[in-house]
Amino acid sequence: MNQPITAAITAVGGYVPEDRLTNFDLEKMVDTNDEWIRTRTGISERRILKGEGKATSDLAVPAVLELCKKRGIQPTDIECLIVATVTPDMVFPATANIVCDKIGASNAWGFDLSAACSGFLFAVATGASFIESGRYKKVVVVGADKMSAIVDYTDRNTCILFGDGAGAILLEPNTEGYGVLDSLLKTDGSGRNYLHMKAGGSLKPASMETVTKREHFAYQEGQSVFKFAVKGMADVTAELLQRNHLTGDDIAWLAPHQANLRIIDATANRIGLPKEKVMININRYGNTTAATIPLCLWEWEKQLHKGDLVAMAAFGGGFTWGASLVKWAYDTK
Ligand code: UT7
Repeated sequence: MNQPITAAITAVGGYVPEDRLTNFDLEKMVDTNDEWIRTRTGISERRILKGEGKATSDLAVPAVLELCKKRGIQPTDIECLIVATVTPDMVFPATANIVCDKIGASNAWGFDLSAACSGFLFAVATGASFIESGRYKKVVVVGADKMSAIVDYTDRNTCILFGDGAGAILLEPNTEGYGVLDSLLKTDGSGRNYLHMKAGGSLKPASMETVTKREHFAYQEGQSVFKFAVKGMADVTAELLQRNHLTGDDIAWLAPHQANLRIIDATANRIGLPKEKVMININRYGNTTAATIPLCLWEWEKQLHKGDLVAMAAFGGGFTWGASLVKWAYDTK
């Protein structure tokens, strides 16, 4: 009997810009301090994409090109490219189109997916379905955000949290059971009040007033989001393991969204995973929204082994949240 097709992750790429914004830099910009930021969030510094004319696609491009090089494929081999982002280069066209143009992926179609910090997981589930259907053989999923474009650097509640970056994975068909095994994804639009951008959409188009009132920046009621996030991310991860008859002992790695170290710890504790099995880079990159999880996979790639079960989990604006289970498909030489 033929084995069902699964979507295996066969290569990973990543990119973070050179420029660092440290807690000490932020101390000079707003009323905050290194100790508060580190103890409340786990962040020490973040990367910022600087330069005129630089956008989210410029973070995504090097990540996708690295992935192509590692896998030994050309951009023209890519059939579909999905970019998860809340900071598209423009409202339209999609950043996916711009990335494909910049890398010469002339045979690919693509689109952007907007699910904030859970965007990468939503895009992985979408891309995996394209592979599982048998219709596509090379789907690239990118998580990329230039958060510095929508962060108000006069608001200490948010400006300490976010950074810029991009990560990308290649999905290919597998008939030995490797790849995306299951995804449990959730949305609750009533959470939109706690984390959003007030203006710039069709509800409140840009005007002098929206600019003056600083409504084109990310707005977050941190404490409320924290309460939902800490429960949501832990619950959904536990539920995913349970429905796959797994416990934390079966999981080799947790690749969690990097919003707050306390939320990551709560998720790891909930499934009984020791800290050594948790990918954490929030200290160096902050919250890069859709890029956090693929950046973890990128940094930990060499430590991942064929057959490892990797749990990915996220919670973000929307509200959106979810977890995915992946059986890692390769060893890195
Ligand atoms: O990735 C998308 C999803 N987002 C998240 O998951 C983020 C969830 N939320 C959080 O991670 C946390 O709520 C924050 C890190 C944003 C804030 O931490 P908190 O422990 O919830 O702090 P808080 O907002 O309750 O503020 C505590 C105190 C307040 O002062 P008072 O009222 O106690 O005197 C704030 O004014 O800390 C003050 N504060 C700050 N102090 C120094 C708030 N921001 C700062 C700051 N530096 N940057």
